[in-house]
Amino acid sequence: MTSTLTAPLASAGTGPGGANSRTAEPAAAPDAADPAAADPAAEVPTAITGSLATALLRSAEIERRIAVDPGSFRILTGDRPTGELHLGHYFGTLRNRVRLQDAGAELFVLVADYQVLTDRDVADRLGEQVHGLVLDYLAIGVDPARSVIFAHSAVPELNQLLLPFLSLVTEGELRRNPTVKDEIAHSRQASVSGLMLTYPVHQAADILAVKGNLVPVGQDQLPHVEVTRLVARRFNDRYPGAGGTAVFPEPDALLSAAPLLLGTDGGKMSKSRGNAIALRATADETARLIKGAKTDAQRHVSYDPAGRPEVSSLVLLAALCLDRDPTAVAEEIGDGGAAQLKRTVTEAVNERFAPVRARRAELAADPGYARQVLRDGCERARAVAAATLEEVRDAMGMRY
Ligand code: TRP
Repeated sequence: MTSTLTAPLASAGTGPGGANSRTAEPAAAPDAADPAAADPAAEVPTAITGSLATALLRSAEIERRIAVDPGSFRILTGDRPTGELHLGHYFGTLRNRVRLQDAGAELFVLVADYQVLTDRDVADRLGEQVHGLVLDYLAIGVDPARSVIFAHSAVPELNQLLLPFLSLVTEGELRRNPTVKDEIAHSRQASVSGLMLTYPVHQAADILAVKGNLVPVGQDQLPHVEVTRLVARRFNDRYPGAGGTAVFPEPDALLSAAPLLLGTDGGKMSKSRGNAIALRATADETARLIKGAKTDAQRHVSYDPAGRPEVSSLVLLAALCLDRDPTAVAEEIGDGGAAQLKRTVTEAVNERFAPVRARRAELAADPGYARQVLRDGCERARAVAAATLEEVRDAMGMRY
């Protein structure tokens, strides 16, 4: 396999359409949308109100704009390299990234290595974790000829943005972030580090260093996108760029329509709880995990996420893998019971992910390739972040 990477980004240093291009877009007619595209608003449960509902409605509108003008979006998103990506990640966000890339948006994927240190003293087996993450990205279809995979630690210009950005938020704002509060509650550290409190601002630097204007995320990341918008707005107000133009776009969050997949024990699917089916799991491991999955005492299989969360999550997993409606999948299994349900799920997962797993094995056999992809990605991200930092220096009058 060669490691030749071509097609540099067309507009290094400037987000597509320039800063604030998000405000100027006309909304497209709904029928212009790609029928395969998710409609996040279709999934809004009636009980959801406030900022989540707003974000879902806004996401639906953005999906329509993506269908019309994908090239006006620069996407930045990423993951902490703390373990194997699993099917919850895949259906929650990973496949969305590839869909957007394939639709023609610019995609930056960040391996958030510094962020691992928010809730632990030392990042374990970091080299191995990072390599595994890059293999996962490539296996699911992130295309290094079009998209950029990079790591925090390789882009000093990104990290330097943290300093002015920290001056734009108050201590109270940092302490009120609900996702940070939750992570503090579950942290394995005795006391809270400065990084834990400030990492959302660092995340703003991730996004704004490359002038990302769209951030596909799960609900838990919405507060961080809000911090990013706040930082962008305050920076633009305080430091007008050359000719009075705003330096930064105010990025939007893009929520995925995929409902939540539970782990095999009925809890939140999480790599650290041993209840997750990894993307890279073998067919046998998958079968074993699903065989041990929790169900309930009722024989007839139905799709009722509120009343029967464990059974419904298995039905949902099969349905997602088969691109089918979960209620129809459940009806088909019906009196076949849990045993038939588990057979269906195992087959569906293994069939759906066989090509991804085969591709991953191929890539893993040539570790030099993935390393080169990451190195090239870091270089490309660095060029973009360096151009942004130059603009920031100019705007702040730090030119000596
Ligand atoms: N916080 C994200 C996570 O825990 C990872 C992340 C880091 C990220 N920087 C980001 C996500 C920027 C979106 C945008 O998974």
